[in-house]
Amino acid sequence: MDKKKLENLEVHLKVDEKIYPPKEIVERAWIKDYETVYKKSIEDREVFWSEVAKELEWFEPWDKVLEWEHPYAKWFVNGKTNITYNALDRHIKNGKGDKIAYIYVDEEGNEEKITYKELLEKVEALANGLKSLGLKKGDRVSIYMPNSIEAIASMLACARLGIIHSVVFAGFSEGALRMRIEDAQARAVITATYTKRRGKKIPLLPTVEKTIDGLDNVEKVIVWDRDKEGVAKDRGNKFVDFNSLIEENRGNCPPEIMNAEDPLFILYTSGTTGKPKGVLHTTSGYMVYTYYTAKIVFDLHDEDIYWCTADIGWITGHSYIVYAPLVNGITSVIMEGVPTYPHPGIWWEYVDKYKVNVFYTAPTAIRMLMKYGDEIPAKYDLSSLRILGSVGEPINPEAWHWYYENIGRKRCVIVDTWWQTETGGHIITTIPSYPMKPGKAGKPFFGIEVAIVDKNGEELPPNTVGYLVIKNPWPSMMRNCWGQPERYKKYWTEIKNYYNPDDLASIDEEGYIMIVGRADDVISVAGHRIGTMEVESAIVEHPDVVEAAVIGKPDEVKGERIKAFVILKEGVKPSDELKKEIQKTVREILGPIAIPEEIEFVEKLPKTRSGKIMRRVLRAKELGMEIGDLSTLDD
Ligand code: PRX
Repeated sequence: MDKKKLENLEVHLKVDEKIYPPKEIVERAWIKDYETVYKKSIEDREVFWSEVAKELEWFEPWDKVLEWEHPYAKWFVNGKTNITYNALDRHIKNGKGDKIAYIYVDEEGNEEKITYKELLEKVEALANGLKSLGLKKGDRVSIYMPNSIEAIASMLACARLGIIHSVVFAGFSEGALRMRIEDAQARAVITATYTKRRGKKIPLLPTVEKTIDGLDNVEKVIVWDRDKEGVAKDRGNKFVDFNSLIEENRGNCPPEIMNAEDPLFILYTSGTTGKPKGVLHTTSGYMVYTYYTAKIVFDLHDEDIYWCTADIGWITGHSYIVYAPLVNGITSVIMEGVPTYPHPGIWWEYVDKYKVNVFYTAPTAIRMLMKYGDEIPAKYDLSSLRILGSVGEPINPEAWHWYYENIGRKRCVIVDTWWQTETGGHIITTIPSYPMKPGKAGKPFFGIEVAIVDKNGEELPPNTVGYLVIKNPWPSMMRNCWGQPERYKKYWTEIKNYYNPDDLASIDEEGYIMIVGRADDVISVAGHRIGTMEVESAIVEHPDVVEAAVIGKPDEVKGERIKAFVILKEGVKPSDELKKEIQKTVREILGPIAIPEEIEFVEKLPKTRSGKIMRRVLRAKELGMEIGDLSTLDD
C-alpha cells in the first residue's frame, strides 16, 4: 500500500466520528431498524428476497428463490418477467402514465421532459424498429451515446426484446470501442452524431465509422442525428436514422417474456491482466436487487426528485440512472455535460431549480467543486435535498464534511455506497436511519455477509486492513464474464470460496467498514477503473516505444493519476514532444481518461524472473516508500 493511502488510513483509524441522521429523515425511512431487519435477512435470505420480489410484477412466479452451485447462482428460478414491464408498463397501469420519468438538461439549460407513458411509447417504437432490422432476443447491440433520454430509450428497447445491450462510455475512443464491439460480437451499434461537453459538440459518429471498418459482425449503425442533417442517408444502407426508425415503427410492442436468468446486459470493466471483461448481468435478480437497494438506501418515495450525476456508460448509470429509478417509478434529472461548465455552480443551480431531494455523485466531483469555494453552493437554495450519495472511490473525511456542510447544510444524510460493476448494486452502504461515520462506507446491505480476511481467507481482528470478501451469493451478482468463464471463476475461488472484489478494507467494532482501495494494479482515475495493461498496450502502439509500465499516483482531486515509465527504441531521443505524442496515442486508442499525465523515459523496467513487470517496485520508488520483498526481482 502506498504512503498516501497509509497516511489517510491512520487518520481514519484514529477518528471515529459519528453523526446522527436528522429525526425527520429517520421517521420517513422505509427501514428504521437496520439491525433487526439485517438479522432477519441473513437468517432466511430466500424468504427475505422473495418478499421483496413480490413488490414487483411477474408474468409467472418463480419456483425456487435461489439455486446455488458454487460459483454459479440462479435467482428466482423459472420466474418470468421483463424489466421494462416493471419499469414502465406497471406504472402506467397504476395510473402514473403522466408522471415525469426524466428531466433532461444540458449545460446551457436546454430542458426536455418525458413522462412514463411517452417513454414507453418511444421504447416500444424503437423496439419495433430494432425488430424490423432483424434483431432478436440474445443478439448483442452496442450503445455508444451521450447521457440522454435517447440512450436510455435505446437500452430499454433492447431489454424490451431481450437483446443484450453493451453500453460503451462515449468518452472512450476507437480502440476501446472496437475491443468491446468485437468481443460482444454486436450485430448493431446505436450512436449519436455527437455529445455536448463544455459548450462544444464532441463528434461520436466518426469514431464509430472508423471503428467498425473491417468489423464484419456489425450489420447496422443506428444514428441519432441530433441536428437533423440527414447523416444516415449519406452513408449507405448500413446506416439507419434513429428518429425515422422510431417514427416509422410506432405502435405497441409487447415485452419479451424473459426467463429470470436470461441475460440483460454486458458491461465491460477493467482488471489487472488481459483485456477488459464483459460483466454479464441477468434479468430478475438484477431487477429486484437494484430496485430494492435504491428504494432503501435513497429512501425513495413516490414524490421524490432524484439526480444521479453518473454517465449511463458506467454501472452506476445502468443501475441507478436507468433501471432502479424507473422500477421505483420516480422522477429523475439527467444531465449531459460537466459539473464546471458554464460555471462551477451549475449542479447546485439545477438542484435548486428542480428541487432535487436525492443527489448521488462521486467523491472526485466533490473534491473538484470544493476547490471553487464554499460561496458557490451558498448562492443556491438547496433545502430540497434530503439524501446525498457517494460512489466510486473512498470519500475522504475532508470531502465528506464539505459535502455534508456546504451541500447538505447539516440537515441531510450522506450514504456512502460501496459496490462494483460486478456486484450490480450497493453492497456496503450507509442507510438513512443509522449514524454516519465520515470516511467509512457503512454496513453490509440486507442479505449480504462480508468479512475482512487475509490471503487464506482467515478473518482478521477489527481495525486491521485486509481483503474484503463477500461470503454469499446475492441477486444482482454478475453471472459470468462474457466469453471468459475462467475469469469469472477466479472471483469466487481466489480466497476460499468467497467472492473477492479485490479491494482492501477494515471493519470496526461496530461493524462499519472502511474501504481503503484496490488490492490489485487497477488504477482509479476520478473513480473510473483503468487497467494498467490496457494503458501499457496503448502506449506501445506508438512506433518509438518498446515497452511501458504504468502506475497510479495519488492525486488530490482525482484520487489517482496515471504515470508511465517508457522504454524507447534504440536511437530514439527522449523529448517533451515525444511525451505529447505518446499521450495523443493513448487518447486516440482509449480516450482522455486513460492518458498518462506523467511520462518518464527509462532504460529498464523491474521484472520478475518470469518476465512480469513489478509495478509495486515502481510505485514504491516513485512514492519514496519501502520497496519490500525483492526476492523475485530479476535484476
Ligand atoms: O475499489 C472500489 C471502488 O470502485 C471499484 C468498482 O469500480 P466500478 O466497477 O467501476 O464501479 C464503480 C461504481 C460502483 C471498487 O472495487 N469503489 C466503488 N464505490 C466505492 C469504492 N471505493 C470506496 N468507497 C466506495 N463507496
